[in-house]
Amino acid sequence: MSRVPDTGAELPSLRDALRSSGFTLDGVADVLGDRASRALNREQPVPAELVTRGSDDPVAVLVRLFGLGCPVETAQVDRALPGWGADRLAALGVVERVGDAVRTLFDLRPYGDGEHEWWVLSDLAEGVTRRPLPVDHVLGIGGASMTLASWTARRPVDRALDLGTGCGVQSLHLSAHASSVVATDVSERALATTRFNAALNGVDWDVRAGSMLDPVADETFDLVVSNPPFVITPRTDAMPTYEYRDGGQVGHAVVEGLVRTVGGHLRPGGVAQLLGNWEVPSGGDWRDVVRSWIGGTGLDAWIVQRDVQDPAEYAELWAGDGGHRSGTEGFEQMYAGWLADFDSRGVGEVGFGVITLQRPRDAREPWVDLVDATTGPVASPMGPTVLAGLEARTWLAEHGDRGVLGTAWRCAPDVTEERHGRPGADDPSVILVRQGGGLGRSVRADTVLAAYLSVADGSLTAGQALDAIASLVEASPDAVRAQALPQIRELVADGLLVR
Ligand SMILES: C[S@@+](CC[C@H](N)C(=O)[O-])C[C@H]1O[C@@H](n2cnc3c(N)ncnc32)[C@H](O)[C@@H]1O
Repeated sequence: MSRVPDTGAELPSLRDALRSSGFTLDGVADVLGDRASRALNREQPVPAELVTRGSDDPVAVLVRLFGLGCPVETAQVDRALPGWGADRLAALGVVERVGDAVRTLFDLRPYGDGEHEWWVLSDLAEGVTRRPLPVDHVLGIGGASMTLASWTARRPVDRALDLGTGCGVQSLHLSAHASSVVATDVSERALATTRFNAALNGVDWDVRAGSMLDPVADETFDLVVSNPPFVITPRTDAMPTYEYRDGGQVGHAVVEGLVRTVGGHLRPGGVAQLLGNWEVPSGGDWRDVVRSWIGGTGLDAWIVQRDVQDPAEYAELWAGDGGHRSGTEGFEQMYAGWLADFDSRGVGEVGFGVITLQRPRDAREPWVDLVDATTGPVASPMGPTVLAGLEARTWLAEHGDRGVLGTAWRCAPDVTEERHGRPGADDPSVILVRQGGGLGRSVRADTVLAAYLSVADGSLTAGQALDAIASLVEASPDAVRAQALPQIRELVADGLLVR
């Protein structure tokens, strides 16, 4: 693979040239159109290749060069990037000459969060090189990167840590709301790419080499984010050890270790957000697995399981991810290796999800919420929901049932109710309360909860409303409170009831 270009004083002018040429998120979307954009997101380049073929439009030329890996005539590149052009790109080491044309050595693409526009260099994906990836491949912006970026609880903070920075994508997001960012990785190539992207985007990060939390020993942060090398990988010779996804340990030990130790690097009120896989024993419950990691950390924990795969599905996904094709000997060896590895530990399924940990500000019992959200879409971005959920769960832990009963809750504006019943029946047999945003929760309400929600408009406290309902249904107020309180707490935690 080509050496990652050095950072230099000229990189801001490359960024300016890319922007002036219209090589922005909107510019690329306009040139490609919906169909080709969506196909490219699925790593299918054919529609984009057809849409841009023969075009002299600067954005189409830059998409062909940097996104599709096509050789592009030198004169076209010169016209597309005035002030830079093919010669300077080649001198920088981003492209190589091929006769009268140049070919990119890296993926380079616009990226943004709606408010900021960035450009990100990374290694070329296997869809472009058409070869299995080398083990020191530096990942571009993928689905997992975007999941973590979406779920990150963004508020202004002093110190942030991006552990396993790769090309620096999470650090770009962090630099929008953290006064200082430390970015770490074990891969020298990833660190060089991160430095390049920091310089290209005019931001300043403290970039450090080292494994997991070693480079920040004795340091604390307000926010730690990590899309760690969480892929569970058999420790056999047949298995390539990809730096970008494999932390070199057995089973889910990388993620477990991070969950157990990251708390020592959080300031009071500080939050860590990690992606991870967890192995669930046959017949077991994923909650027991992750609960055992949190015990003794003293941290609040909110873990949302977003996907579950059986060992065969997991093997197919990750054997294919490195560019190994189904039907080849290497693929089949790896597939069998994964199955044997999972069998050796009695693994029935593998969960994937987002782990959010918080160091309590004061001495109190930590709260734990383990949520299965494997079906249905969630809000995008999820960060605002995570921030609100952290605040709500912390409020509940600090105020207890007395606080809940003493508060005049109201239904959030995105909450709707569905009533289902037999035709002609006087009363519905099922009442469903649905959340439009956030985690998209859907809760089956019994008579008491449905009655409470129908009056939850911020005028009566929960205690007053439940007592009135108790007298209407001729039940004891204590029994009605005991029945409704856990349900109300859940709706408060997930933002269906707000203050
Ligand atoms: C899945 S990639 C994530 C890259 C990027 N942060 C993102 O969100 O797309 C995992 C990163 O962790 C790095 N890594 C692997 N082993 C590590 C270790 N022991 N300590 C720190 N980082 C490690 C890899 O080099 C890679 O850059």
